[in-house]
Amino acid sequence: MEATRLILLGPPGAGKGTQAATLVTRLGIPQISTGDLLRAARKAGTRLGKEAQLFMDAGRLVPDALVIMLVEERLNVEDAQDGYILDGFPRNVAQAEALETRSIKIERVVSLDVPDSVLVKRLSGRRVCRSCGASFHMDYRPTKTAGKCDICAGDTYQRADDHAGVISERLQTYKAQTQPLIDYYSTRGLLRAIQGNGSFEDVRQAINQALDL
Ligand code: AP5
Repeated sequence: MEATRLILLGPPGAGKGTQAATLVTRLGIPQISTGDLLRAARKAGTRLGKEAQLFMDAGRLVPDALVIMLVEERLNVEDAQDGYILDGFPRNVAQAEALETRSIKIERVVSLDVPDSVLVKRLSGRRVCRSCGASFHMDYRPTKTAGKCDICAGDTYQRADDHAGVISERLQTYKAQTQPLIDYYSTRGLLRAIQGNGSFEDVRQAINQALDL
């Protein structure tokens, strides 16, 4: 069977992580989030994690060499051999070219389009479980008990980069460095652009359609 290699592209808060989690269940392939990999490296206190922290806290991209190394390592893991959903990678043309250089054939790229004002609301209200990483929202997906994860009862917290100043920096970084990937993948005939500004369910259905599921 051909491996299914997908990319979810979109600005911070577009719903990449939320929708990737749904696709994992549907397709039985892992979600590979560079944001999650970097946060895990930070938590583990590795050299790479410490180096990445400065960039993440400032809302800037972590240097390509570090991220590409991390992704390469992850793609070699057994569970990724039948495919994967890349969430947050590539994030600039150099990273996309790194995939091509390694002859990694991407089947489809789904980009989520969401207005800035909605992104800011989504990011500033997001709460994440410290234990299992599940993502919630104060208004749109509240936990049943305030401050406690619905799945594992762990404590939820607000990511440091989900505060106002860093959010605007992240949005600028996206526009300057990641948005050009829309043309990059469009030129290669791989891009399916969808509206990410609907309900969780509307976006899920639009992604399924874009992937012919
Ligand atoms: P990363 O963790 O990847 O952050 P991001 O791309 O900014 O994406 P987010 O996780 O913030 O948003 P999302 O699109 O996944 O939205 P979510 O589903 O959570 O990266 C963090 C940092 O790491 C970067 O800034 C950078 O420094 C570094 N980094 C990562 N990858 C890198 C790379 N490749 N190269 C260099 N540096 C890299 O949804 C957000 C909220 O909205 C949630 O609360 C959710 O419940 C809610 N929500 C989602 N969908 C809906 C909906 N339809 N309706 C209402 N609410 C919704």
